[in-house]
Amino acid sequence: MPFPVHRMRRLRGSEAMRSLVRETRLAPSQFILPLFACPGEGVRKEIAAMPGNFQLSVDELVRECEKAHSAGIGGVLLFGIPESKDEIASGAYAEDGIVQRAVHAVKLMFPNLLVITDVCNCEYTSHGHCGIVRNQDVDNDATLDLLCRTAVSHAKAGADIVAPSDMMDGRVAAIRAALDRRSFQNTPILAYAAKFASVFYGPFREAAESAPQFGDRRTYQMDPANGREAMREIELDLEEGADLIMVKPAMPYLDLIRQARDRFDAPLGAYQVSGEFSMIAAAAQNGWLDRDRAILESLTSIRRAGADFILTYFALEATRLLS
Ligand code: PBG
Repeated sequence: MPFPVHRMRRLRGSEAMRSLVRETRLAPSQFILPLFACPGEGVRKEIAAMPGNFQLSVDELVRECEKAHSAGIGGVLLFGIPESKDEIASGAYAEDGIVQRAVHAVKLMFPNLLVITDVCNCEYTSHGHCGIVRNQDVDNDATLDLLCRTAVSHAKAGADIVAPSDMMDGRVAAIRAALDRRSFQNTPILAYAAKFASVFYGPFREAAESAPQFGDRRTYQMDPANGREAMREIELDLEEGADLIMVKPAMPYLDLIRQARDRFDAPLGAYQVSGEFSMIAAAAQNGWLDRDRAILESLTSIRRAGADFILTYFALEATRLLS
């Protein structure tokens, strides 16, 4: 056989050719933009470790949602920074809590924009843990009740999807039952199914002011070393009634995104978390990486691994790059 018969470079010769054979594509509808709601009016407080991201008062957050809406992105994911915190995360499930008010305002202005709410307690507890603390640890079953109240209050405010991120056992089933009892049987649950105790959440904890005041989250979030356990977590969440599943973080866990895609048929999301954002932003700021290409390559890798949608702080920027 004359060498070489196979010349892989034949299909790489022009952008037209490369585009024809491209296996993975990015579209704005696959991106979800996380946003942080805070008290006040006209507040746009930049998060130091996440340049270009802000704590936004509800009026400003609505403005950001207008951009998201007109860009045609898949939706927004809302987090809240409450006025005050306590031991039982009262702000998380208050009828007029910060997220509840934000959801209401956004849905009023942009009824067609998909609004997802993060259901967790860590932004609302004085100790910064994701639930009720007893004997220096989070009490799983006592926490479920708070999560149910929070999820129902978000649905009541108009959330399209609720997304529990706390990693308590049994929370999907508990939230499903609570939603159904209150006639929210059509509100889907996006489970942060395989969520790891990751260093890459660092910048987020500044953004959401949710760093634990003692210890860490390793008694509830997963050990980064465990892949099989991640599949069990996902399986259990699906059994409990999760409608959509998620792996988080994204790039350090691409192998698990791929495994989840191959094993489960539910819609699969991946969260490109704050630290993943900040690494790219910092390297670009130093002139060490081309920002635009790093954004698109990182998102493409997450899609190629098998994620249907990506929660990413680059949602708007990536959309601009694609247009
Ligand atoms: C709340 C929550 C966290 C993130 C999403 N939901 C922080 C944490 O678990 O400590 C992280 C998101 C990010 O880093 O971008 N539990």
